[in-house]
Amino acid sequence: MKNKILKMLKDSEDFISGEEMSKEFHMTRAAIWKYINMLKEDGYIIESIPRKGYKIISFPDILTYEEVEEYLDTDFIGRNIYYFNSINSTNRKAKEIAFGEKEGTVLVAEQQEEGKGRLGRHWISPKGKGIWMSIILKPKVDPMKVAKITLLGAAAVYKALSNMNIKSQIKWPNDVLIDGKKICGILTEMSAELNMINYVIMGIGINVNLDESDIPEELKDKATSIKIIEDKEIDRKELFTNILNEFEKIYKDFIDRDSISEAIDICKANSALIGKDIRIIRGDEVRVGKALDINEEGHLVVEFDGGIVENIYSGEISI
Ligand code: BTN
Repeated sequence: MKNKILKMLKDSEDFISGEEMSKEFHMTRAAIWKYINMLKEDGYIIESIPRKGYKIISFPDILTYEEVEEYLDTDFIGRNIYYFNSINSTNRKAKEIAFGEKEGTVLVAEQQEEGKGRLGRHWISPKGKGIWMSIILKPKVDPMKVAKITLLGAAAVYKALSNMNIKSQIKWPNDVLIDGKKICGILTEMSAELNMINYVIMGIGINVNLDESDIPEELKDKATSIKIIEDKEIDRKELFTNILNEFEKIYKDFIDRDSISEAIDICKANSALIGKDIRIIRGDEVRVGKALDINEEGHLVVEFDGGIVENIYSGEISI
């Protein structure tokens, strides 16, 4: 009901009287007033004038479906959004509900108390300052192909930023950097049988409007936020919906045409690694080489000592 009242207020340029609303929704004016107060608590500024009624003056910076719907240009990605003010981790919650949810369902939170990074690391997710989201996917592809989805996500984030005139680079396979520092990490998790995927959770964390004080001292040389670099607040709704719109296009190519060529082209053209000396860390093993390319399968092509060239499927890379 709250959302129906919100929609009515949004659709009207003028004041709407409590009486009009109570007729429309068959409830008392006191009940309408209760819902108006709930909307105010969500951050909507609503002017109320006796005998004239209610009018929305400003909208909150929150990532609910109601607030982002008008910017969404997708068929199924983000058409069902679960919004949390605070949660332990959107990836964790997504795994709990994935079996019963439709493909493209998105979980997004203003804050994560136990945000998960790769390799069991903690992911800092301060309230209202980032985009902390997980997308539930159910691709009918070989489980071996799932690693590619991370690249599709990274390419979508790159394109979304580029649409907003923000230049970034992709650090294969799961980071997006600006000015050499990380602003986005992707954590893709999967549940699968031998040759069938039950679901994939693609968790995307973006440091959008974090201030210097939000970034721990020990991460300051490696991580930053878009706001710090651009020196201005970034519209989270615009970025969030841009990512979902761009991701759906790239993902459809993958599931409908088995093609990831556009994503690979983006990852190659804007790679933070190609041409650089890199270290590949896998557990205790560290290998040093030079990143040459990303091949059509999405693997990193690396030249090691003695000119030996190998395709790398996974790993933690440092430059
Ligand atoms: C990385 O280590 O680079 C991956 C970070 C992934 C963070 C995102 S934030 C939304 C989603 N929920 C989580 O708990 N983690 C991912």
